[in-house]
Amino acid sequence: MPTRLAGEGLTLAYDQRVVTEGLSVTIPDNSFTVIVGPNACGKSTLLRALSRMLRPRAGAVHLDGKAITSYPSKEVARRLGLLPQTSIAPDGITVTDLVARGRFPHQRLLRQWSREDERVVRESMAATGVTDLADRLVDELSGGQRQRVWLAMALAQQTGILLLDEPTTFLDITHQVEVLDLCADLQETGGRTLVAVLHDLNQACRYATHLIAMCGGRIVAEGAPGDIVDAALVREVFGLDCRVIPDPETGSPLVVPAARRPLRDRAEARYEPAAVP
Ligand SMILES: Nc1ncnc2c1ncn2[C@@H]1O[C@H](COP(=O)(O)OP(=O)(O)OP(=O)(O)O)[C@@H](O)[C@H]1O
Ligand SMILES: [Mg+2]
Repeated sequence: MPTRLAGEGLTLAYDQRVVTEGLSVTIPDNSFTVIVGPNACGKSTLLRALSRMLRPRAGAVHLDGKAITSYPSKEVARRLGLLPQTSIAPDGITVTDLVARGRFPHQRLLRQWSREDERVVRESMAATGVTDLADRLVDELSGGQRQRVWLAMALAQQTGILLLDEPTTFLDITHQVEVLDLCADLQETGGRTLVAVLHDLNQACRYATHLIAMCGGRIVAEGAPGDIVDAALVREVFGLDCRVIPDPETGSPLVVPAARRPLRDRAEARYEPAAVP
């Protein structure tokens, strides 16, 4: 059974730098797929390709049974939304106006702004807790406030597939949990397919229905977190010694990094800090 979103034989590159070669990935429909992996392993690059922001050097992305390149761009934006890792807001734009931009793909020549657009913008802002910021300038918000405004914009796009590149960066722990709970609700009750890049392995294990571990432009393992995450995988992907125990709250894998060893015991230690005079 083909899924709504898949990449086949993807070679992704920037000029001379090849990030992935012949990578194939299938996003299970109605999953909360989480991608983890070390910095620079190609997570954002993959999300960009899956959302047609980056053209593969080889291979193809399929959306709803057709090559993603065969759709008009507005049609892609009605089916799939991307929250990039970093976004720059237009100068002097207010929160409400930025979130309203999420409705552009739904507007047509003869149907401009509607009550429905109004309602979706209001609900998206409420869901991400930015209603009180409505009239503020996006430039003047804190990092975490801004991140939630961008998320509201992505929600307002009301797409069946939502790709989120590090949606919890900059957020305090309560807002992190709120955003991830919201993603889980969208997947469970809203019938959507979510793909998120996360750095927190324990959050990834708690929330992912399908986990993809990447390293060096390759998929090293994928499946249910409980089936694939163990100390050997964490060592292979991140080069980190750890223990994996059941999360006391959910039973999902909990990654506990090994305690720091004194410098003198670390054979590989190269950096010897000078004593402060
Ligand atoms: N616009 C670009 N031009 C050239 N090289 C790029 C560009 N964007 C990313 N790269 C390179 O491609 C590789 C993969 O980057 P990517 O952003 O996909 O990593 P990532 O897994 O998302 O990392 P992080 O966890 O730090 O966000 C890196 O070596 C990076 O330096
Ligand atoms: Mg990235």
